Amino acid sequence: MKSDSHEVAIIPAQQIKGRTIRLRNVAPSDAEFIVNIRTNDKKGRFISATSGDVSKQRKWLEDYLISQGQAYFLITDFDDTQLGTVRMYDQQGDSFCWGSWVVAEAAPSHCAIESALLLYTFALDLGFERAHFDVRKGNLSVIKFHERFGAERTGETEEDFLYSISKEKILSTLAKYRKYLPEKVEIIY
Ligand SMILES: CC(C)(COP(=O)(O)OP(=O)(O)OC[C@H]1O[C@@H](n2cnc3c(N)ncnc32)[C@H](O)[C@@H]1OP(=O)(O)O)[C@@H](O)C(=O)NCCC(=O)NCCS
Repeated sequence: MKSDSHEVAIIPAQQIKGRTIRLRNVAPSDAEFIVNIRTNDKKGRFISATSGDVSKQRKWLEDYLISQGQAYFLITDFDDTQLGTVRMYDQQGDSFCWGSWVVAEAAPSHCAIESALLLYTFALDLGFERAHFDVRKGNLSVIKFHERFGAERTGETEEDFLYSISKEKILSTLAKYRKYLPEKVEIIY
């Protein structure tokens, strides 16, 4: 548990190990995979546009590794097969934002739920009390996903619905979906 002796802050972990997948800190060598999933016609529809230039992506990842205030994870299976990405950023007090959430079409269907549960487990371990995020208004399946998780709509912009979820809701969701997680999620900082 990181939160006892530290002021809450977004820091990366080397690995957060779940039941069938793990989140691991991204590496520059993930650039090609990330470009592929983010520029996929179907997957890229509701996320910010990404250049198809792999060397630009590699540079972005190198800059990320020396940046502060974000944690960008590759979602992989235990053999390090690349399955998707998820990122924490934009801390506002005791709330963190998450996004850059993309799962490859070939990933197993529980990958989305398990990756969200692992991210929330990690965020509580860091000491966060809530999360905030935005979802494009047309991204109906993702809106449904977050609402089933207990997120509440707090506002909107022209493009996005804004959501927030409290620690209490996160804890009850983690309990409700505990079958998707191992007894103990292993976090290596
Ligand atoms: C966002 C993303 C990672 C979510 O993953 P997903 O696989 O589409 O998520 P789903 O909502 O389909 O959930 C996966 C499975 O879990 C099930 N599920 C989801 N939430 C559930 C819940 N609360 N309880 C029970 N089952 C649930 C779904 O029914 C689905 O099962 P199925 O495959 O048998 O139909 C994925 O859609 C994606 O990569 N999208 C493109 C990028 C994007 O838009 N990102 C979001 C930016 S905000």
